[in-house]
Amino acid sequence: MSIHKKTYKKVTTNSLQEMKQNGEKISMLTAYDYTLAKIVDEGGVDVILVGDSASNVMAGNETTLPITLDQMIYHSASVVRAVDRALIVADMPFGTYQGNSKEALNSAIRIMKEAGAHSVKLEGGAEILESIERILTAGIPVMGHLGLTPQSIYKFGTYTVRAKQKKEAAKLLEDAKLLEQAGCFAIVLEKVPASLAQKVAESINIPVIGIGAGGGVDGQVLVLHDMIGMTYEFSPRFLRRYLNLFEDIKNAVGQYVSDVKSADFPNEKEQY
Ligand code: KIV
Repeated sequence: MSIHKKTYKKVTTNSLQEMKQNGEKISMLTAYDYTLAKIVDEGGVDVILVGDSASNVMAGNETTLPITLDQMIYHSASVVRAVDRALIVADMPFGTYQGNSKEALNSAIRIMKEAGAHSVKLEGGAEILESIERILTAGIPVMGHLGLTPQSIYKFGTYTVRAKQKKEAAKLLEDAKLLEQAGCFAIVLEKVPASLAQKVAESINIPVIGIGAGGGVDGQVLVLHDMIGMTYEFSPRFLRRYLNLFEDIKNAVGQYVSDVKSADFPNEKEQY
């Protein structure tokens, strides 16, 4: 397939569909605040995910479960204010869509109305189909999320690779087809064998964006803070670190402390 690279002034759900059709890989990164979202957008990423991983990265929680709808709206609104080009996807937090579809719709409406996000992401397949369908009826674009779904961590018990067994792989493929039929515009596929991920991407017409799902899918997503090395505790095989900001920032802070203590800072040029 020829790689036809079109320039998109603003990325929409249609642009992502076009990228898949043209064999152009989709780039996606997380952001939770204005400053980093601006950098990520100017860096040219196609999709910015306001992930509920903010629960871990920004708040220091062990899981994504504690983050609230109000907190996700706060993060999403900060990102929206920064972004000119990328499509913004906001995660629907745990407990805001699994209960019933009316509550799911109300939660999604709050994210769109109060934060100004362009779309929402929900974790799960057949179990949450009714919620997805109801959100879609309001004209809100929905991204699915299958494979390792961190909001179900207490069901899985571990963060290891999902769908290695035939039965789970077959259910995942079935769920991907269900999400496509329901009208989702894309699916995130997290931590599954590369061969299965490729099969899913080849079996459906909507883009499949992988994280730890190999190169045979339509795009890639990483958590920004992991990718730029602001976090260091988390080192899965799929993570490529482009910077080591934890060390760089720590060293800069150390240098600042030393400059203050030695009265080197501020110098004559740095005062009025
Ligand atoms: O919350 C998040 O950051 C995510 C990505 C890992 C896909 O869902």
